[in-house]
Amino acid sequence: MILHTSLMLGALALATTVGPCGGEDIVADHVGAYGINIYQSYGPTGQYTQEFDGDEEFYVDLQRRETVWRLPEFSKFTSFDPQGALREIATAKHNLDVLIKRSNSTAATNKVPEVTVFSKSPVMLGQPNTLICLVDNIFPPVINITWLGNGHSVTEGVSETSFISKSDHSFLKISYLTFLPSADDVYDCKVEHWGLDEPLLKHWEPEVPAPMSELTETVVCALGLAVGLVGIVAGTVLIIRGLRSGGATRQQGPL
Ligand SMILES: *[C@@H]1O[C@H](CO)[C@@H](O)[C@H](O)[C@H]1NC(C)=O
Ligand SMILES: *[C@@H]1O[C@H](CO)[C@@H](O)[C@H](O)[C@H]1NC(C)=O
Repeated sequence: MILHTSLMLGALALATTVGPCGGEDIVADHVGAYGINIYQSYGPTGQYTQEFDGDEEFYVDLQRRETVWRLPEFSKFTSFDPQGALREIATAKHNLDVLIKRSNSTAATNKVPEVTVFSKSPVMLGQPNTLICLVDNIFPPVINITWLGNGHSVTEGVSETSFISKSDHSFLKISYLTFLPSADDVYDCKVEHWGLDEPLLKHWEPEVPAPMSELTETVVCALGLAVGLVGIVAGTVLIIRGLRSGGATRQQGPL
């Protein structure tokens, strides 16, 4: 796995500068890798993740030098030496340095991120839920995604994924906020990125259907019952008629 990724990084470095490998159209010179591992001179920062079937399995916290499993149960069955990740990132950094020199330090072009906010489950007031802020088309992978509750910064109950790489070399990142829906609370997902002139606020507030009054419920229930009864009567009449006419036809049949 590690060997494969290194080879891929090498191949990509070549593709960027020489361009013979099927027209890889890489737009940046400050981001070092386009697989699931990233190194970039902004910051500088790096990210090492491993995916399985498109789902992120773990990432390596490069500052703390430890492996963080997305599903903690995984760590019971298997382990990953974070040193491997650090070596990978070092390779990516090396390749990037070469690229930067060859491109005369041309800066990357910023893309404009696309932001969507929705709730994980249908909203029921008083039932714990999770807000999902999905940020797509991120490039370069340097971004701040934060949450506001009624206009104030919220940090509790917030978590986010690593950068998830996409085939067009942009990235996707998802931020989560666990919350207790209430009719009075509104939320914003705040995104800061160099592709935006100013921070983007994506607003979200619960859309809860007006609760039915007890009278309405009784009326609806009574109506339903009445329609049901009419249906039974009409059905019975039709069946009896059907049987009679069927019998009549049979009697006439042999003539
Ligand atoms: C970088 O600069 C050198 C000298 O100024 C020039 O010869 C070369 O073509 C430039 N390379 C690119 C990729 O722009
Ligand atoms: C993210 O937030 C930090 C701290 O407030 C700020 O220095 C940085 O410029 C922000 N990044 C972007 C991409 O706006």
